[in-house]
Amino acid sequence: GKVIFSGIQPTGVPHLGNYLGALSNWVKLQRNAAPEDDLVFSIVGWHALTLPQDPKTLASSRSDLLATLLAIGIDPNRSVVFHQDDNQDHTELAWLLSCLTPVGKLRRMTTWKSRLATSRNANDESEVDESLLNTGLFTYPVLQAADILAYRATHVPVGEDQTQHLELSRDLADIFNRTFKSKTLMFPLPCQLNTPSRRILSLKDPTSKMSKSSPDIQSRILLTDSATQIRAKIRAAVTDSVVGITFDPVGRPGTANLLTILAACTDEEAADVARRYEAKGHGHLKADVVDALEEMIKGPRDAFERLRHESAYLSQVAKDGAEKAKARSNITLREVRTRVGLI
Ligand code: TYM
Repeated sequence: GKVIFSGIQPTGVPHLGNYLGALSNWVKLQRNAAPEDDLVFSIVGWHALTLPQDPKTLASSRSDLLATLLAIGIDPNRSVVFHQDDNQDHTELAWLLSCLTPVGKLRRMTTWKSRLATSRNANDESEVDESLLNTGLFTYPVLQAADILAYRATHVPVGEDQTQHLELSRDLADIFNRTFKSKTLMFPLPCQLNTPSRRILSLKDPTSKMSKSSPDIQSRILLTDSATQIRAKIRAAVTDSVVGITFDPVGRPGTANLLTILAACTDEEAADVARRYEAKGHGHLKADVVDALEEMIKGPRDAFERLRHESAYLSQVAKDGAEKAKARSNITLREVRTRVGLI
């Protein structure tokens, strides 16, 4: 069977990009999985710590994210749902993999390069300053590879911003396989499962992706947003002044983003949706996006409001999930330790 693994950082309520780009696909995969397939979904607290987090906020985000995953339809009786930080196997494997990871590979990661680009030397603006960035941010992709390989995952459903991290995970799996060769392959090479709806862009700056880290909360729709908030944000979304609607991601990114969102809600192709709006205006398109979003978000939002206060239930789910996760990763780690000679 397949082993499907994915993760999400507990850095606040998931937004539409997380949902359409990844989480909705987790639910779909769970629904369509064969009985012998294994699904493992992780809330990756250690990854969140690569950027400064307020401890109280992190603790509540961590628990709220579990409630959100259950609210969107992840079934803890079918899928393993757990907190990464409850399973030390990830950090142990990350260490072993880091000993096989050339520094140069990590320097080439675009996420690292974009962090570097924002940390200019105070005295010489043209020079980037590595001393301002922490090591965790640098080795972040190694921990992500460990998350995936600890379960010998075969399929990883993520948004396309994770492509380079997935490439590194395959690289490290391959390096391990070749360095510690044995009759059987230690790690399958995990393949990326892209969500059809692809990249969701910021509502305020449609040249960048919708992200949790943007200071402008109007730039993203949260899975907990009320109908009123959804309407206000979509109404204020940046588009263009071209008459009529066409799907042109390069020339008209704001309009294309609304079409992508609507298409994802109704499970269609954005270009097909665009054809229906050819002779219509942005007002009409936006009104329909608002309705489609409210229809999609309503169920999860209500379920989340119910679940988030059931702390005893959430703790039990987390505890069971951690046990199931460890039962799987322990097998991998035992084999890994034997192969490297730590036995
Ligand atoms: P994170 O927490 O930033 O995002 C979770 C998922 O949401 C997707 N995503 C998007 N998709 C489309 N449009 C967007 N605007 C958008 N923003 C985010 C991401 O691609 C991701 O699938 N490094 C990962 C977490 C991680 C992980 C893993 C994932 C840690 N270990 C192992 C898979 C396997 C991250 O930062 O995701």
